[in-house]
Amino acid sequence: MNQKLTIGEPFLETRIIEDESAFSVKGPAILLNLDTVMNISVGSVFSDSAEESGTISKSTSVCRIFSLPPLQAAQICDTHISCKGKALLVIGADTLDLGDLTTIDCLRRIWKSNYELTHQESQRGKPYYKSPRTSIDNVSMNFVLVSEPGAPSGIHCKHAAPIRELHLQIVGEGCVDLLAEDDPSAVFASLPLASGSTHVPEWNTELVYPWHRYRSVTRSIFMAVEISE
Ligand SMILES: [Fe+2]
Repeated sequence: MNQKLTIGEPFLETRIIEDESAFSVKGPAILLNLDTVMNISVGSVFSDSAEESGTISKSTSVCRIFSLPPLQAAQICDTHISCKGKALLVIGADTLDLGDLTTIDCLRRIWKSNYELTHQESQRGKPYYKSPRTSIDNVSMNFVLVSEPGAPSGIHCKHAAPIRELHLQIVGEGCVDLLAEDDPSAVFASLPLASGSTHVPEWNTELVYPWHRYRSVTRSIFMAVEISE
């Protein structure tokens, strides 16, 4: 299954891949394994021309397959992926320059600010802008632009339902701060995020979270991904 989502348009191409044995990826892309158990194979599924012509023997050829563990992400390029479970593919991150104010204005015209979405006074002036949100089976997701560096989201430890929450960094740098209490000065760990990466799970076996928040390091686009049971 290869389903194109519209949430990132016109800036980013987003696809859900499931049960594909040799899905071809042209150019750079960001891949997130949405499965909680199975790996995704990334790499050549066919012999290259040298191997086919016999100039490289099987014994001297190198491994071209990488196994992406559950709930982990990678930047990939010009390759094939093989997955039984669900995967999220994002294309176009390399085309967005968040140093360009025209690009920022364009994103802010199409994605709604937190204040527009919630009408909460506490959100007025916050540099968070969200794409539409969509759900595919047990996975829901949206893009978030943080148009200023060093801007934290709200601190929270509860979600509306038991979920596995991942922040997938698309453009720029960010981090997830873990806090001992609902206090911006109580950060006890930070999980850095570069483009094409996500973080290790914040939750315990009961899906209980510490206080946490996202924080932009540079101007940033990330995806908020929630996987329910
Ligand atoms: Fe959260």
